[in-house]
Amino acid sequence: MNRTDFGDDFLWGVATAAAQIEGAANIGGKGPTIWDTFSKRPTKIRKGHKPDEACDFYHRYQGDIALVKTLGFKVFRFSIAWARIFPLGTGMPNKEGIAFYHRIIDECLRQDILPMITLYHWDLPEALSQLGGWTAFGINASFNEYVLFCAKEYGDKVKHWIVINEPFGFTSLGYMLGIHAPGASGVGNFFDAALHTAIAQADGAKILRAEVGQAVIGTAFSCSEIIPYTQSVQDHLAAKRMDTLMNRFFVEPVLGMGFPTADWDVLEKFAISHSTWRHQQRMTFDFDFIGLQNYFPLVVKYNAFIPVIQAWEVKARSRKVPHTAMGWEINADSFYRIIKQFAAYPSIRNIMITENGAAFHDKLVGHQVKDQERIEYFEKYLQAILRAKQEGINVTGYLAWTLMDNFEWAEGYQARFGLVYNDFKTQQRTIKESGYWWQKFLSK
Ligand code: BGC
Repeated sequence: MNRTDFGDDFLWGVATAAAQIEGAANIGGKGPTIWDTFSKRPTKIRKGHKPDEACDFYHRYQGDIALVKTLGFKVFRFSIAWARIFPLGTGMPNKEGIAFYHRIIDECLRQDILPMITLYHWDLPEALSQLGGWTAFGINASFNEYVLFCAKEYGDKVKHWIVINEPFGFTSLGYMLGIHAPGASGVGNFFDAALHTAIAQADGAKILRAEVGQAVIGTAFSCSEIIPYTQSVQDHLAAKRMDTLMNRFFVEPVLGMGFPTADWDVLEKFAISHSTWRHQQRMTFDFDFIGLQNYFPLVVKYNAFIPVIQAWEVKARSRKVPHTAMGWEINADSFYRIIKQFAAYPSIRNIMITENGAAFHDKLVGHQVKDQERIEYFEKYLQAILRAKQEGINVTGYLAWTLMDNFEWAEGYQARFGLVYNDFKTQQRTIKESGYWWQKFLSK
């Protein structure tokens, strides 16, 4: 397998997110975000870690963008911290925050790296969370104001945009299960947040289309093949519900199909009580690319004790299959199948893998991190993409998660996903063997 097998136009890049790398939580006029607040709550984040400093990318961005270049990637995906632009989420913009993203973009362009902006990667301004965050109707007006501002400010220089990162990720973890910021729970919160997010992803895209000439607009969905644990009818139905929720729930409204209510009575009941769920047109947008992010397949079995979904994950560890340090199953065939599942929607014409990667128990020994498992992981997952491409599926890019070890949300600094090792005490970066593997792969 060579880089050239993917075609000359294939976009190779790395993905990052503001809250995970920037640090400078109280610097440069940035307002607090829900992750700043959430991380102060005891027991919410492993070992009490906080995103305050993270990788200090805020001050070290030049060196870090140089690393992107050294590794041979063409694209740098980063997100804008909404609270750096609007410290209170809306109203008065913050000059220092605005200037910071100009510096990043300019540095990318100077180093001949293509900047790709994610507008929302989970770090909602705390002030908006106080008003209900994504569950509140007012969030859409604030989001649109923020998107319009960014489009006008950066649209001349940046053409590649991702509106929202993994709507299912933050609405489920943050508003249903309470294990991510803002720590809310309950099905009602989830459905409210989901509706406003589905509107935001299309509204945001429409604003970009109107404001940014030659924009290439995408949005990024998490996806996981859902595999029934046994052949029983109950397990199959449980898997179908999980698939509806995890894979179909946010993409189908975008494609003009509305929420997939017909396939799950709970959704249908909720839709009846929320007439806005029928507002299909507002949730629809013809994206230039659909971003897919895959980390694991999910094996599920029926469980009557789990409210609403009545399905339960059978963990990779207990099934004794190969898995990462996160306990996520390594299964490149499943990656291939989930790409095919999304490609089967006739209106999805262009898929970009906007995140994929793995955490392992990396150790810095001398100046080396020997992460052979990660190299093997990338080799297998890239093969899966190639297979899909050879069958005619239009996959146009791959962004590895992630440039360097960072603040991995509720896992704190423990989970290391980077191609570059970060020593969080000294902020010393060391390219891992997998980083060198990429360098070699991309240079041919
Ligand atoms: C998120 C990243 C996260 C990664 C690994 C993705 O769902 O977009 O922010 O670090 O998964 O957990």
